[in-house]
Amino acid sequence: MLFWHDQFERCRCLACRFQRRHCHPFAPKFVNVTVDFHVDQRKLFMTPTCWICGAALDAGGYEPLVRVVCRNCGQRNLLQRTFDHFVPVETLGAGGMGTVYKARDTQLERFVALKLLRKDVSSEADHDAQLQQEARIAASVNHPNVVQIFSLGMDHGQFYVVMELIDHGSLDDLMESQGRLTEHQVLDIGIQIARGLRAAHRKGLIHRDVKPANILFVDEQAAKIGDFGLAAFATQQSQHTESDRVVWGTPPYVAPERLCNQPEDVRSDIYSLGATLFHAVAGKPPIDSNTNSATELCELKQHPAELRSIAPDVSSPTARVLQRMIAPDPKQRAPFYDDLLAELDAARRALEIADARRHSSRWPFSGLFRHH
Ligand SMILES: Nc1ncnc2c1ncn2[C@@H]1O[C@H](COP(=O)(O)OP(=O)(O)O)[C@@H](O)[C@H]1O
Ligand SMILES: [Mg+2]
Repeated sequence: MLFWHDQFERCRCLACRFQRRHCHPFAPKFVNVTVDFHVDQRKLFMTPTCWICGAALDAGGYEPLVRVVCRNCGQRNLLQRTFDHFVPVETLGAGGMGTVYKARDTQLERFVALKLLRKDVSSEADHDAQLQQEARIAASVNHPNVVQIFSLGMDHGQFYVVMELIDHGSLDDLMESQGRLTEHQVLDIGIQIARGLRAAHRKGLIHRDVKPANILFVDEQAAKIGDFGLAAFATQQSQHTESDRVVWGTPPYVAPERLCNQPEDVRSDIYSLGATLFHAVAGKPPIDSNTNSATELCELKQHPAELRSIAPDVSSPTARVLQRMIAPDPKQRAPFYDDLLAELDAARRALEIADARRHSSRWPFSGLFRHH
């Protein structure tokens, strides 16, 4: 594609401004540049005007990083929309409450995760205050197993949440790529997440949306629970639904008490974590049904599958802990995270002892020492 030199003088692309490859006074009058040169390097525009003809773009209502076609010249422009001093640079994924972007914090010059909540999520002023209060408490939780919330704001009429950027994927991704996880992996993840949930519970928070997609990895071992405090936004929204049988949550992991209109507490998060770990180690959730009906799910959750009937290789201490976590009656689950952590730790120790025995019995002279 050919462009006049003087068009580059008006070009606000960072490549031209800083490298001055095309804007130098002795640069040739015509240069060969493709549109992709600008788009691939994410040299984005600060104002919604077409970078070819300068015409104003109809940017109303567009999400960030959307390509908008210029009505004047037909050029496709990558639209940048900043949220205060946060500049989205890449879409990380979309979930039930909105879209998550990798974004640049232009004040602190670092990358963060920016979650842009859907426009229909809360718009009433008194609710906003309540939601901000919940997010403020969540932001005060500072623990190695909790995704840190940095900031919360509203711009372009949309709530956004700025979080620590975690870039080794989620448990959901891992389950998709690896299939069933090992018992060791599952117990390690369970212990870490229970520690994170305990830290938040000490501040009075329950999560309400523990599920594989909300468990993120910092590296191969370290796991963090994300989206703390954000469930309040979604539950807020579900109160606007007409039928009381429409319940917010992810069916395989949501606790039966929410489905059965019973009060929720810390044990509801323990259920969701148990269902998550069950799914990870067995390859199937304890309730395998496609229904979205709260009444049917409430009924199904009264009879969860037996872990050892799906995955007979799982040791009985691990199976016992996970089965207790997903007991239909909250009274049968561990009442506090300290109890749960003691049970998970004991299951892990039993697994290590069993592994050590198995390993030593493979040694040819092990029988000589066993009875001493
Ligand atoms: N803090 C974060 N850092 C990096 N990626 C994240 C972060 N939070 C969420 N994501 C990713 O963004 C995508 C959408 O997340 P989210 O909107 O929370 O979806 P869901 O509702 O399924 O939890 C997911 O793929 C998730 O892994
Ligand atoms: Mg999430």
